[in-house]
Amino acid sequence: MKFFLDTANVDDIRELSAMGLVDGITTNPSLLAKEPAPDREIYEQICALVEGPVSAEVVSTDCDGMVREGRELSKIAPNIIVKCPLIEEGLKAVRVLKEDGIRVNVTLCFSVPQAIFAAKAGAYIVSPFVGRLDDIGTEGMDLISDIRLVFQNYGYETEILVASIRHPLHVIEAARIGADIATLPANVYRSLLKHPLTDIGLQRFLDDHEKAKKAGSKS
Ligand code: E4P
Repeated sequence: MKFFLDTANVDDIRELSAMGLVDGITTNPSLLAKEPAPDREIYEQICALVEGPVSAEVVSTDCDGMVREGRELSKIAPNIIVKCPLIEEGLKAVRVLKEDGIRVNVTLCFSVPQAIFAAKAGAYIVSPFVGRLDDIGTEGMDLISDIRLVFQNYGYETEILVASIRHPLHVIEAARIGADIATLPANVYRSLLKHPLTDIGLQRFLDDHEKAKKAGSKS
């Protein structure tokens, strides 16, 4: 399972990618709006820190505009993945960009038929948003299992990226289902590694080792 970070904050990316376990980055216009630096500069810094795919989202809503933006974004670094919204014009843009050899992450997916359209259009990644579905009183993770099943049925190679993750249980469920990627806000990524019993257990091992050393039974 691949773990991406869902942030445009370069400090968080630098810190969290130091373990070598961050497989890619997703950004979106809302995340970029929180950062003071110009977008291009942020993408350049992120691409220098992370080898895996870095999603950079277009803000045009017509095919020509998305293609124009996508081509420009893809020049920033070889690991840039262009992110297009799951609308008619976005799917047209996927086809054109794919012909150029540019990989596209189709974002804002909220239904199985939308995911099928993205796969048929040639998306490299499709991003269903589980948290936002939970927010409106539906079960976001059901969408992930349905898309997994349908993609298996038809042999679609588009990768399923679980987006809008809010907590570790979303990650566990995504892994059970066999989603290809989970993109995690920095706070969720940090919390995944931690378990109080690990800290308590480690402390006990160290204390017992010290006691045994003091008692002289250890050299
Ligand atoms: C994914 O690519 C999106 O940027 C992100 O996961 C959206 O999450 P949100 O619903 O918490 O804004």
